[in-house]
Formats: sequence, C-alpha cells, structure tokens
Amino acid sequence: MDNEELQWRPAIPGELISSNEVHVWRAWLDLTALQYENLLGFLSKDELARAKRFRFERDQKRFIVARGILRQILGRYLGKKPNELVFEYSSQGKPALATYPGCGTLHFNLSHSDGFALYAVTRDRNIGIDIERIRDDAAVDQIARRFYSQGEISSLFRMHIDRRTELFFQYWTRKEAFIKAIGEGISFPMEQCDVSLISGSVLSPIILHSDKIESLRWYGQDLFPGCGYAAAIAVEGTDWDLSFWHYTL
Ligand SMILES: CC(C)(COP(=O)(O)OP(=O)(O)OC[C@H]1O[C@@H](n2cnc3c(N)ncnc32)[C@H](O)[C@@H]1OP(=O)(O)O)[C@@H](O)C(=O)NCCC(=O)NCCS
Repeated sequence: MDNEELQWRPAIPGELISSNEVHVWRAWLDLTALQYENLLGFLSKDELARAKRFRFERDQKRFIVARGILRQILGRYLGKKPNELVFEYSSQGKPALATYPGCGTLHFNLSHSDGFALYAVTRDRNIGIDIERIRDDAAVDQIARRFYSQGEISSLFRMHIDRRTELFFQYWTRKEAFIKAIGEGISFPMEQCDVSLISGSVLSPIILHSDKIESLRWYGQDLFPGCGYAAAIAVEGTDWDLSFWHYTL
C-alpha cells in the first residue's frame, strides 16, 4: 500500500470538528441493494424528485447514495438523524445546511465522478472539493486553451505528453474546487484563476488575476483519493489541517 492510500483512515472521527480542521471523506457509490434502500430512506421529497429526473438508472442511484451518505456524515457531526437534515441552496445551486441552534455553522461540499465521491466538512469557512476520473479521451489541448490561464497552459505544455493528461485533470479539479468554494457556477471566468502554483499536498495560494485581494483568501491542495482519479480541495484561509476518512456503512 502506498503512503497516499495509508492516509485514509477506516475509522470515523468524533462528532466534533473545530474551525481549523477540515475532514475529507471518500466513499464508493455503487453499493448493494440493501445498503441502497437504507440510504434512500434518508432523502427528502425534493431530493427524491430530483433523483427521478436522471435519465439513466445508474446516475439516479449514485445521486441517491451520494446524498444519503452526505446526510449520514453530516448527521454525525450535528447529532441528528440523517433524514432530519434540511438543505438550502444558493442561487448557483450550492447546497448548505439550514442553521441549527447551538450547532455553529458546519460547511461542506461534495463531488462525485464515476462512482466515487469525496466530501469535505469544516466549520465557519467556505470550502470546495472536486474529483474527476482521469480519462485519456479528454480534449486536453482545446479545453486548456479555452479555460486555463497562460501560466497553466505553459506548465501544461512543458509537461511530457505522457503526463500531460494527468496534470490537465489535476488543474481542472483545483479550478473546480475553487469555483465550488466560492459557490460560483459555469459562468465564472476560469482562465482568470491560476492554480499552477499548487504543488502536490502542500497548501498553496490560488491566484485570481481579476482580484488581488481575493487571492490572499483562497488556498488549495491536491488530494489523492485513489488510482485513476484527480482531486483537489479549496478552502478559505491557511490555518487549517486536513484529515482523511474512508466512509463505511
Ligand atoms: C456544480 C459545478 C460547480 C461542478 O459540477 P461537477 O464538477 O460536474 O460536479 P461535482 O460532482 O464536482 O459537484 C456536484 C456537487 O456540487 C454541489 N454543487 C452544486 N452547485 C454548486 C455550486 N454552485 N458551488 C458549489 N457546489 C455546488 C452539489 O452538492 C453537487 O452534487 P449533488 O447535486 O449531487 O449534491 C458545475 O455546475 C459547474 O458549474 N462546473 C463548472 C464547469 C466548468 O466551467 N469547467 C471549466 C473547466 S476547469
């Protein structure tokens, strides 16, 4: 087992999380029928209605499982049953917990790709997380020229062709994690955000060419959820520590 795999602990953390902690959870979304039924029972009416709108059964099931697990994870921190949690949505669709008296503000974000999900949980600071399966068929050059900054494009094309796709997805997840942390959507000018200074698992600044002040607020780090996946996290501030948890039912 490599070092990156070892950092994912099988246990579950206590129900408390302080504002200088960030917990990252990973989970597989393709479960047994029994596990699926159990999680299905946690979802709200609006989540079930949304699930029905997926065209393919597999996507529908994965959405249900991802939400069910989210509710279980958050419920533990809040001392509440998974089905008691109420989500609110920003105008751009970012989910947040309704406020519970005495519980402080628990912030979270989640991402899923090809049956694998990552969840980030913290307190009192905005957070974004993104995971992508590394696909060899991605139109790396075209997408990079459209959405990446000049700094990112130069680093990408300096990289040997064999490693370029991997770096492309690493940049992609860093950028997505950042736009999810600020709660923006597809309309955010991605090329104005430069994530090429981030280096592996070291906390590094995200540079915003459009707003130097905002640049000082946002930091990112790569995550290593498993072979064949790229992932990253973006968080407000620098005074936080990451820990990694493997979700089991
Ligand atoms: C949601 C969004 C921000 C990311 O989508 P994605 O990468 O396809 O999907 P992910 O699995 O990473 O994240 C989806 C989850 O993020 C959360 N989410 C939804 N909207 C969000 C927002 N505006 N901000 C933060 N989180 C959001 C939800 O929990 C959602 O999952 P759920 O609905 O199943 O609970 C997407 O709408 C988007 O706008 N992407 C930008 C695409 C782009 O321009 N890329 C440029 C190349 S770098």
